[in-house]
Amino acid sequence: MIQAHSLDKCYTLPGQSISVLKKVSLEVNEGEFVAIMGPSGTGKSTLLNILGCLDVADAGSYVLDQEIISTMDDGALADIRNRKVGIIFQSSCFVDYLNLPDNVAMPGFYSHPPCEHSRQRAIELLKQVGLGHRLTHLPSQLSGGESQRVAIARALFNHPRLLLADEPTGNLDRENSAEIVGLLKRLNTQGLTIVLITHDREIASAADKLYRMQDGELSSDSDD
Ligand SMILES: Nc1ncnc2c1ncn2[C@@H]1O[C@H](COP(=O)(O)OP(=O)(O)O)[C@@H](O)[C@H]1O
Ligand SMILES: [Mg+2]
Repeated sequence: MIQAHSLDKCYTLPGQSISVLKKVSLEVNEGEFVAIMGPSGTGKSTLLNILGCLDVADAGSYVLDQEIISTMDDGALADIRNRKVGIIFQSSCFVDYLNLPDNVAMPGFYSHPPCEHSRQRAIELLKQVGLGHRLTHLPSQLSGGESQRVAIARALFNHPRLLLADEPTGNLDRENSAEIVGLLKRLNTQGLTIVLITHDREIASAADKLYRMQDGELSSDSDD
């Protein structure tokens, strides 16, 4: 599913240049659940953004689901992202004047206007993540754990083949974190490939494989 080889990423600011990813290589097979752990500021989100086609590396190659991402222009990247990737961020942004089904259906707006079919799919997804009883709520009327469930439902809307989660339990208590991880695990057993970033070893233990990010370098947990 993911073949990333020797990715470099550098941010240039006035007077300085920061090398954030250094020859990062990662392979993720279809149906795998991979976790990446590492201290803050070591390049985890930068890597996830590149894997999610939100950003591009300066050097190296990236193949996602047999498509060569590293040579694509912005339009092609947006198209791939829309067709293949679902992303969950640590704090999700929702449109607060829209109810939950309309928020979940947002990723579909890119390819077609909202319709009854997309609304039904959004409701189905909200039920799947345990929010069938909150359909008329607005995002501001939810708890932190519920918000993350909506973020998961929204990430699934376009039937992604790959789900990327950037510290999805970072703002949650233990119980809610465990529920979100249980939900991700269930999606993984249904065939979804998942890459999860987390600070929490217990959460990382839900994954099949663990990688560590340190100063922009990625290593397999079994290497040390
Ligand atoms: N757009 C940017 N411009 C300049 N520096 C950035 C930018 N995004 C991130 N960085 C820097 O890159 C480093 C890695 O950031 P990030 O990937 O967000 O780390 P992590 O997710 O592991 O906490 C940090 O030092 C951060 O300050
Ligand atoms: Mg981060």
